[in-house]
Amino acid sequence: MAPVNNNDEHPPKFKVTIVGSGNWGSVASKLIASNTLKLSSFHDEVKMWVFEEMLPGGEKLTDAINRTNENVKYLPGIKLGHNVVADPDLENAVRDANMLVFVTPHQFMEGICKRLVGKIRSDAQAISLIKGMEVKKEGPCMISTLISQQLGVNCCVLMGANIANEIAVEKFSEATVGYRGNRDIAEKWVQLFSTPYFAVSACQDVEGVELCGTLKNVVAIAAGFVDGLDMGNNTKAAIMRIGLREMKGLSKLLFSSVKDSTFFESCGVADLITTCLGGRNRRCAEAFAKNGGKRSFDDLEAEMLQGQKLQGVSTAKEVYEVLKHKGWLEMFPLFTTVHEICTGRLPPTAIVEYSEHAPKYPMTGGPTSFP
Ligand SMILES: NC(=O)c1ccc[n+]([C@@H]2O[C@H](COP(=O)([O-])OP(=O)(O)OC[C@H]3O[C@@H](n4cnc5c(N)ncnc54)[C@H](O)[C@@H]3O)[C@@H](O)[C@H]2O)c1
Repeated sequence: MAPVNNNDEHPPKFKVTIVGSGNWGSVASKLIASNTLKLSSFHDEVKMWVFEEMLPGGEKLTDAINRTNENVKYLPGIKLGHNVVADPDLENAVRDANMLVFVTPHQFMEGICKRLVGKIRSDAQAISLIKGMEVKKEGPCMISTLISQQLGVNCCVLMGANIANEIAVEKFSEATVGYRGNRDIAEKWVQLFSTPYFAVSACQDVEGVELCGTLKNVVAIAAGFVDGLDMGNNTKAAIMRIGLREMKGLSKLLFSSVKDSTFFESCGVADLITTCLGGRNRRCAEAFAKNGGKRSFDDLEAEMLQGQKLQGVSTAKEVYEVLKHKGWLEMFPLFTTVHEICTGRLPPTAIVEYSEHAPKYPMTGGPTSFP
């Protein structure tokens, strides 16, 4: 990755564009914009691509962001930094950038990548903050792999115990950058995101870091069911333990390179804890269980999240398809049951059914030994 040299600029500087402007995308822009002003190796200006929307008053979201310096829809009340420039034109937003930060709900990434083929700089580096996966006939495709393959760029990931609204008000948290081979590039990303209240470290295990971030959303749905059923803290802790075990088991079955130590980083156990205590997946699943599974997740998402997207329900479906395709359903009772509850095949109470003799129920969580 070579810095961008604008005419007589010495030394040349790195230019950052953020693709996505939801809740986390907006917080990422705030973190990054505070650093590009301080670090001389970066251009001050940070572009943020906005999926254009019309606000109730008739103003375009992009115009409102550039006028107020706030994302009035997805992160109201927080100044992003005067050097953040919102741009609704995707191609224009990425054209000059050589550091691309992808942070949209995962279901939109395939379409976004298709639009970007041939439109980005040949020396660009990417990082994905996106939790989720695409399921193809040949198996699961992580979002960082989708970005790498479609755009021909190296792609790191950043995951962690990061509920966006808490970081927005500068409460301390940690995050993990997962990288494949090049430590220097990982360090550049660490530098770009780190602030006194956001401690980032690098971990050479891109698949492990990304799978932690993705799979914990399925466990968060299970934790929400437990809350909706008023089962208490011991049950929730059991769900989290079994969930972590399945996260590790599936990650290692899919990628033998995944390291045990990754599960002890912020992207692993810490993200699992915060998502099962707070977070939108847990909240919507709690409401789903309280309604006895009678209101759909689509309804609850629309009512409770006002445009923000749930990731756990679609990830549970994607995980289920992978498990079915590989013949592994029985080995992952928690993941399997979450999907069956989300689709109405089982009642929410199935999440806490215990049977010593039927290892297909999630609360057994022990007999299967993963490699
Ligand atoms: N919010 C968090 O606390 C948090 C924390 C860590 C990671 N993440 C991850 O970050 C990613 C982005 O989440 P977020 O919270 O920034 O978004 P969000 O759910 O707050 O907002 C949804 C975004 O999707 C956009 N959108 C809607 N339709 C679209 C379309 N057709 N094409 C493209 N974009 C469209 C909206 O404009 C909006 O920017 C997700 O993978 C999420 O799991 C979120």
